[in-house]
Amino acid sequence: MDVNLDFTTEERKMLLEEMQLLEHNISIYSWGLRGFKTYVSGVFTLPLTNFMQTIGYNKKVLNLKKSDIVILNIGCRDDTDNDYINAELFPSLGEMWRILMGKQKIKYDLFLNICNEDKNILEVADGIILSHVLEHIPLNLALIALKNCFKYLKKNGCIRICVPYLGKYQQPPNIPYEKAKNMLAINTVIYCYGHKVMYNAELLKLLMAEAGFSQIEEVNFEEGLLGISDLPERQSESIYLTGVKI
Ligand SMILES: C[S@@+](CC[C@H](N)C(=O)[O-])C[C@H]1O[C@@H](n2cnc3c(N)ncnc32)[C@H](O)[C@@H]1O
Repeated sequence: MDVNLDFTTEERKMLLEEMQLLEHNISIYSWGLRGFKTYVSGVFTLPLTNFMQTIGYNKKVLNLKKSDIVILNIGCRDDTDNDYINAELFPSLGEMWRILMGKQKIKYDLFLNICNEDKNILEVADGIILSHVLEHIPLNLALIALKNCFKYLKKNGCIRICVPYLGKYQQPPNIPYEKAKNMLAINTVIYCYGHKVMYNAELLKLLMAEAGFSQIEEVNFEEGLLGISDLPERQSESIYLTGVKI
């Protein structure tokens, strides 16, 4: 039976291909051999990060840096070409292998699991950048993560949080192909990249307040506290919130 789908044959082909890609990307993080490999590769990452925190590695690095102003860029990944103190999880097994082979280098300063309090670096930071990290943290740990950030800040220190925002996808042009593509993009943001939770400004403000932050504000790209740290590639899909420890 012939069905009128409002798509051209070409659009229909492209959408089906994109759907397959989405399914493939979801499976990388969820099941199958790829999911298993991702899981095994990362299985020591958190324990080793926690271990480095416990033995005081981060404090030693901070002492060596002797920076007047400490801005922690937590969950920095490749965003290391800057003057911040960049923090990440301990490398996965795959990354360690590439490091040992000389194909990769550790470019960040601290090993920091945001969900595990590092008692050695309390009240060290003037500012904290959390760009596209919180959505990777399970909801039951999100508040703990923000409370840890609060503890790492000095008095009057500030935090800038940037997260993906589904509202940015809410008004696609009224064209069937664009609307279908948009729904695939929404599914990608929710189910891929290891994302655990989606936020809007209201939900994030609630958590930030609960963690102890004051003067919480939703701000635009590059505006407000630590606005200079915003990554242009994140602008179109993100919301930005700032808060202060008073
Ligand atoms: C999407 S990347 C963001 C990279 C960069 N900040 C940016 O905006 O492009 C998310 C990063 O958060 C890190 N991450 C995930 N869970 C974390 C945790 N519990 N503690 C610290 N970092 C974490 C991941 O290792 C990953 O590099």
